[in-house]
Amino acid sequence: MITQKLDGKDPSDVNRAESILSGGGIVAVPTETVYGLAADASNNAAVEAIFAAKNRPVDHPLIVHVSSADELSKWAMDIPDEAKTLAAAFWPGPLTLLLKKAPHVSKLVTGGLETIGLRVPAHPGILGLLQSTGLGLAAPSANPYKQLSPTSAAQVIDKLDGKIDAVLDGGDCSIGLESTIVDLSSAEIRVLRVGPISPSELSRVLGKAISAPLNHSVSVSGNVEDHYQPRTPLRLVSRQEMVRLIAENSSEAAFVVRDGFTEFNEEGLSRTVVMPPSKQAFAKTLYRTLHELDNRSLAIIWFEKPPHTEEWLDVNDRLQKASH
Ligand code: TXA
Ligand code: MG
Repeated sequence: MITQKLDGKDPSDVNRAESILSGGGIVAVPTETVYGLAADASNNAAVEAIFAAKNRPVDHPLIVHVSSADELSKWAMDIPDEAKTLAAAFWPGPLTLLLKKAPHVSKLVTGGLETIGLRVPAHPGILGLLQSTGLGLAAPSANPYKQLSPTSAAQVIDKLDGKIDAVLDGGDCSIGLESTIVDLSSAEIRVLRVGPISPSELSRVLGKAISAPLNHSVSVSGNVEDHYQPRTPLRLVSRQEMVRLIAENSSEAAFVVRDGFTEFNEEGLSRTVVMPPSKQAFAKTLYRTLHELDNRSLAIIWFEKPPHTEEWLDVNDRLQKASH
């Protein structure tokens, strides 16, 4: 299969992406979180093609992306008021709502579950396709199973060239980490995957405490402990340990440090990446940094631990998994 490289700014390329999707093909599309591997969620063969391209086990459910909250009732039933409140507050945006699936929705999309994950994404690339095709688009992150999510079209091509029909280039993802997933399918509302929208933002909008994830057994593939991994081993270390490691100067290692780190030696410098200070900028560049380091055939990536505050919850979660 030849993967078409399409430009999200070129109307005729966008038309191509539309017709591929309407015809049951699979297209990697930009969202504000990470690139998604999209297909018509109501077409079983198209959904199967997503699982095949990613090499993803069929019991790992896909998120269905829709053009607006008005579409919720097409895909879900028994929708609680809290879902509407969260949708009104955060959509379009990096929030996925788990709801009871409507009876007609194929269990292929939901990985055999009775619930469905729904999200209205904010990036004009995918949002435009949702509006013009009128489809619901099933779209997991556009990476092979367990690997790092892509935040640029080039990273998608790097891993999936020849395995998918097309990539629509919409530039770098502005957020860079996967959406927050909130389970509203049972009485207790829970966060199943931490993400750009924090538990306290959710609690504030709902006017009640939302339990944070810590441990749960629900089948969220992002909940598999060795998800989101570079191929190069990654270890999280304190600043003190980092200083010692850089001094040791192993040529096989890369060092990723936080802003304000000054204890470089000259040789270490070329193998040191300094992350931006703000959480937003850090998250946006995290996967790109890991993708780049992963292509250097190093023995190990030493990564300085980020702060342990609620704001950094999603960054810590993804780094924990990357280091598993
Ligand atoms: O930001 C995002 O959420 C990106 C972009 C493309 O929208 N998508 C994404 O998809 O991260 P994926 O498949 O890589 O991760 C979605 C997670 C998986 O861990 C999946 O198991 C979980 O959502 N999920 C989806 N539907 C579910 C369901 N019905 N019950 C439990 N978990 C579900
Ligand atoms: Mg994923």
